[in-house]
Formats: sequence, structure tokens, C-alpha cells
Amino acid sequence: MLLGIFLTAAAVAGDHSHHQRQKKQGILLVAFGTSVPDAASAYQNIERKVTAAYPGIPVRWAYTSPTIRAKLAKKGRFIDAPQTALAKMMDEGFTHVAVQSLHIIPGEEFHRLVQNVRAFTGMAGGFESVRIGHPLLGTQKDLERVAAAMIKNIPRERKPADAVVLMGHGTAHPSNAFYAAMMFHFQQQDPHIFVGCVEGAPEIDAIKEMLLAKKIGKAYLMPFMAVAGDHALNDMAGDEADSWKSILTAADVQCTPVLKGMAEYDDILSIWVDHLGAALAGF
Ligand code: CO
Repeated sequence: MLLGIFLTAAAVAGDHSHHQRQKKQGILLVAFGTSVPDAASAYQNIERKVTAAYPGIPVRWAYTSPTIRAKLAKKGRFIDAPQTALAKMMDEGFTHVAVQSLHIIPGEEFHRLVQNVRAFTGMAGGFESVRIGHPLLGTQKDLERVAAAMIKNIPRERKPADAVVLMGHGTAHPSNAFYAAMMFHFQQQDPHIFVGCVEGAPEIDAIKEMLLAKKIGKAYLMPFMAVAGDHALNDMAGDEADSWKSILTAADVQCTPVLKGMAEYDDILSIWVDHLGAALAGF
């Protein structure tokens, strides 16, 4: 049911006949956004991969988070919202645009993106076709690929008795279910991998109980987010009493935070890049 609703998203394409126009393809990469400069380098990493995979196609960026965009604007960095970026691309004469969501799950941000991109089909003098690539987690195959990719990137020092606790963002949107689904896939390979959310279920208290039930004394904390931004630095690895590190340490689980976003792992990047490829293949 969930995937059924979501799969219709890829079909946002409009076809109009513009006779004399030359085909001009473009890529719009759409991330949640981050105000942490180090985390932004993960985004540059994505752009390098995209340019290498699909050379000659201009790449533009947009952030979906108005909060992040406002924060950056105060520092003089102006990043467009997706609809602004698309309007500019329309102005530049692009005819075919592949919009790639760099979100993790097809949640609220993704669905709003789909809605706004759809509004760009059927405009006079506008795009002939706009297609959207699935976020990181779309199909069953994606869940399996993400599990394999993250397992490959667990720090080598980690022993099988140690836990790996991944921090997802979490959402009130129904696709929050992807996090628990990911935990299922991880645990099929490795019963000591856990997935919780900073703003949703499974909550850290539930994860803590699971660790204690398995008498786990050591945990590696890793972001299950594109970048190691504010949530990773503070809510996961921070020293405040309500950070995951503090909560687990207080329960006698020794914690080692790993401050690397998923966009820093090549095997994860190639999933997004493949989704973009599927969108481009429709032109
Ligand atoms: Co948040």
C-alpha cells in the first residue's frame, strides 16, 4: 500500500510538443539541506558522482528545508527551494529535467517535492518532461542494497558482540515505517544492528531496552541520515543528558559515535545515482 502510493511519484512527466526547441537536459539535485559546513561537503561528493556518471548534463541544487535555507541566507548563502530552481531552469530553456531526491525515505519532504514538480508540467513554454528519481529507499531492492552498503561501512574495530545503533530522522508521515523495515533487513544479516529515530519511532528508549535485553555493553552510533549534521553532532553524539550517547552511557553501554553521513559512502551514493539514471532513461 505504502509503496503503491509512492511509485506513482516517478510517473510525474508531462509531454508537450514544442517543435523548434532543441533538447536541453538538466539535473536538479534536491536535498533536505544542512547548515553545517562540513556536512555540506557530503553534498559536493554527490555532485561529483553525478557529474561523472552523467557527463555533460548541467546540475543544479535545491534544498527542501525552509529553515535551513533561511539560516544559510543570513550568512549570505542563497540556496533555492525546488520550485525556485525549476523556475530558473525553465527560464534557462531546459526541456527535460530529472529531479533527484536526496532524501532517505519517501516522506513528507519527498511528497511535497512531487506535488510541486507536478505543477511544472504543462506550463506554456515550459519543460517537455520532468521526472523524479526515487529517494534512497524506494523499492524492496533499495532496502537490501542500503543494508548491505551500511554493513560494509561499519568501523572495522567493531566486534560481533558490539551493537551498531543507527540514528534515522523519523517523521509523522506513514513512511516512517521504513526505519523499522530497515532494522528488520539489518537484523537478518546481523542481529546486533538497530535502527532508531530522533523524531519518531523506534525511539531511543525502545532501542536501549533491546540492547539491555541482549546484554550489549558497547555500541557504535552512526547517522542513518545523508549528512552528519546537527542531529548527529548533538542529538546522537552530544554531551547533553538527552543525547543518545548520554542515554546509552547512563545504561552502561559504552558508546563510540561515528560522525559520517550516509552520503559519504560510495555504495550509498551509487543507489541515488542509479535512481537518477532511471529518471534520465525516461527521456
Ligand atoms: Co530534524
